[in-house]
Amino acid sequence: MNTLFTGKNLIVLEEVDSTNRYAESLLKSSPPDGTVVMAHQQTAGRGQAGNAWFSQPGQNLTLSLILYPLFLQVSQAFVLNKLVSLALLDTLKHFLPKASLKIKWPNDLLADKLKISGILIQNQLAGSMIRNSVIGIGLNVNQVIFPAEIREKATSMKLFSGHEFDLKQVLGTLMTHLEREYLRLKSSGPARLDRAYLDHLYAYQEMHRFRIRGEVMEGMIVGVEKEGKLAVQLNREVLHLNLKEIEFLL
Ligand code: BTN
Repeated sequence: MNTLFTGKNLIVLEEVDSTNRYAESLLKSSPPDGTVVMAHQQTAGRGQAGNAWFSQPGQNLTLSLILYPLFLQVSQAFVLNKLVSLALLDTLKHFLPKASLKIKWPNDLLADKLKISGILIQNQLAGSMIRNSVIGIGLNVNQVIFPAEIREKATSMKLFSGHEFDLKQVLGTLMTHLEREYLRLKSSGPARLDRAYLDHLYAYQEMHRFRIRGEVMEGMIVGVEKEGKLAVQLNREVLHLNLKEIEFLL
C-alpha cells in the first residue's frame, strides 16, 4: 500500500520555471517526506551538467520528489540515483514490455538505445549525512516531436508504442515503485540496488567507444563506485571517471 509518496503530498502546478527549483524553495517550510511537485509546463527545466530540459506542456511527467534520507551518508548519495533509475526502469517495463530498457550511467533511461527519461538529484547535506534530497524526474510520455538537437537521440512512451498513455496512471505506477524501493533501502540497505543497477547498465562489460578526457578510446565499463564514479577498463588500467570526463560515442 502507498503510505508515503501519494495523494496528500502532491502539488500540481500549471506552470513553473523548474519543479526542482520550486521544491528547493519549499524546503524552507519543511514539507513532509514524499512531497511531490509536478508541473504541466516548465519554462526553465534543468538537466544534468547545466543543460536545459525541454518538455512539451502537458505531454510528459516533469516532477520533483522531496525526501529526507537522513539514514544515508554523503558518500552513499549515489544510491539514490540507483534507486530512482530502477524505479523508472520498472515503471517503463510495466508500460513498454517489448522495449529493451537500460540505464545509461549515471541515470538516463534508454528504450532501444534512445533516451526516454532523465534524473536530476540535488542534495543538501548536514555534516556527513544527507539532510534532504530533491529528486527531479523527466519522463517522456506522450511527446512525439522533439527539438532538432535531440531528435535522433530521444524517444517517448508514445513514440515507442504508438499510443497515448494516461499521465496519472504513469505517475501512480512510478510512485509505487519509488516508494517500494525507498522502503526497501531503509530496511535492507543498498546491496540489492547495487546488483540490479549493474544488471541493467547500458554497455556494462562490453567494449564501447568513449571520449575520455577529450580523447576517443575503446574501453569496457567494469563497475560503478560507491560514490558514483564510472570504472572503465582500458588496455592496462582502470579509470574512475566523473560525468564531465566521459562521453559515450556510437
Ligand atoms: C537530464 O539531464 O537527463 C536530467 C533531466 C531532469 C529533468 C527533470 S524535469 C523535472 C525536474 N525539474 C527540473 O528542472 N529538472 C528535473
